[in-house]
Amino acid sequence: MADLSVALCGVTLKNPVIPASGTFGFGREFNELYDISCLGAVATKGLTLAPRAGNPVPRIAEGRGVILNAVGLQNPGAEYFIEHDLAWLRSKTRVIANVAGSTLRDYGEICALLDGKTDFIELNISCPNVRCGGMAFGIRPESVKEVTKIARENLQKTPLIVKLSPNVENIAKNAAAAEEGGADCISLINTFTGLAVDIRRRRPILANNTGGVSGAGIRPIAVRMVYEASRAVSVPVIGMGGITCAEDAIEFLMAGATAVQVGTQNFTDALACPKIIEGLNEWCDFYGIGRIASLTGTLQLNG
Ligand SMILES: Cc1cc2nc3c(=O)[nH]c(=O)nc-3n(C[C@H](O)[C@H](O)[C@H](O)COP(=O)(O)O)c2cc1C
Repeated sequence: MADLSVALCGVTLKNPVIPASGTFGFGREFNELYDISCLGAVATKGLTLAPRAGNPVPRIAEGRGVILNAVGLQNPGAEYFIEHDLAWLRSKTRVIANVAGSTLRDYGEICALLDGKTDFIELNISCPNVRCGGMAFGIRPESVKEVTKIARENLQKTPLIVKLSPNVENIAKNAAAAEEGGADCISLINTFTGLAVDIRRRRPILANNTGGVSGAGIRPIAVRMVYEASRAVSVPVIGMGGITCAEDAIEFLMAGATAVQVGTQNFTDALACPKIIEGLNEWCDFYGIGRIASLTGTLQLNG
């Protein structure tokens, strides 16, 4: 059996497989199907300071190899999570609290509230910034750095992961901006903005009009972005986007990721994460890889 453990900002994960934010709730439903303590960590549903009801339905549209979602950060609020789910989830595995806000102050406050309570904080910076007329914090390198700095200033004990948006001009620049702002780790990618049309009604399928595109179809773009971002920073990288099996996860590790997150595939197959962990073990054994951590960043370009 290979050693699947990986170290992320001084924290050891038993393996590199993490369900992605928004696709796993707080883990309770999945724990009915398998013991989630087998996971390297869990990234929580996106948390905000106040509870949010989310967007009107329909919120999900299915495409070929992809889905679009406009869930709109439905969540019970960070305090509810701390009171009802956190202790249970921490008794199972490492916890990454995924957090969001619409102002810099929101980001600072939610980080201060969660500091020292979870193993990591993951900053979702794909949310509309009220000050920038609704443009997401994660679009421009300047605002990536600014929001990262505010989060960093409000965290004394917890490593900070900044989750990058792919809807940008230059992913390497945004990755570097997150590191300059004080990120201990970066994760990518969040969803691509998309539009699905109900051609009979000549209207968007989603009530929100546009939604975030995720799933198997985005994987080659995500792998390319992880490669470019990981070359631009010295902090560790968590890769995600369209992972469906162990081989997909290995692509991300070779492209530069230390760990991976699995999102949409949890909807297709609720046992996706444990199957990927098992598949990583088998793959490593077959190819004589003693430590999975040795695969990170080993991709060599042609020519
Ligand atoms: C229904 C749904 C809800 C999501 N909610 C969040 C969220 O709250 N915070 C966040 O950072 N990312 C969220 N994401 C993005 C995923 O965590 C992930 O970055 C993205 O889906 C790409 O991975 P995948 O192709 O494996 O799904 C959500 C994705 C989906 C499909």
